[in-house]
Amino acid sequence: MEPKIFDQIAKQYDTEDRIQLAHRILEKLKPFLTNTKESCLLDFGCGTGLLGIPLTSLYKEVLFCDDSNVMLDVVQSKIQAQNITNAKTISLTNWIQTPTFSVDQILLSLVLLHIPDTQSILKTLSDRLKPNGKVFIVDFLKNEKVSHPKVHNGFVTEALEQTFKSIGFRAVISSVILEEKKVFMNDDASLFLLIAEK
Ligand SMILES: C[S@@+](CC[C@H](N)C(=O)[O-])C[C@H]1O[C@@H](n2cnc3c(N)ncnc32)[C@H](O)[C@@H]1O
Repeated sequence: MEPKIFDQIAKQYDTEDRIQLAHRILEKLKPFLTNTKESCLLDFGCGTGLLGIPLTSLYKEVLFCDDSNVMLDVVQSKIQAQNITNAKTISLTNWIQTPTFSVDQILLSLVLLHIPDTQSILKTLSDRLKPNGKVFIVDFLKNEKVSHPKVHNGFVTEALEQTFKSIGFRAVISSVILEEKKVFMNDDASLFLLIAEK
């Protein structure tokens, strides 16, 4: 089996640059987070929890899910080290196999670009979102200079908004939140925040 790149880099993932980028994303994201004290947030593709761990102090509960179990081990160590009592990790396999529970809000930060079938993953996530629930996407705007066989070269937000609407989301908005140097395959990038309401 092909080794997973995110398993290999998980233990060294928290560089100063990534920590600082996560801080800047959180500052832009937080004003849009509502009803957090009554809500369960799923941090999907959580990585090492650079966003989700700070959000545990705002939410009733935070679930961390990732395709990489090594990333989830890093999150679990942070949960234990910081005595966080309202968070747990769940493997992607367990999450897929337990369709009975649903969440209020879902965050995907820099994850969608790594998942080949955008429509299919958004439909799967939508099915696990409670009525009136929200999805928050942070990702890169399309950059034609970027080319990688396994990664989308960003997204056109109008097209992504249409995808959400075709799945049945009733309100979708997006805006550019950050301009960053050398963050997308070593190229400069604009990051957007898209919010979709079920
Ligand atoms: C660039 S990291 C972003 C981590 C974190 N969300 C952040 O903003 O710091 C992408 C993460 O998505 C995860 N991932 C990739 N494909 C996935 C999938 N199909 N389902 C769940 N997680 C996935 C990777 O394992 C990795 O941890």
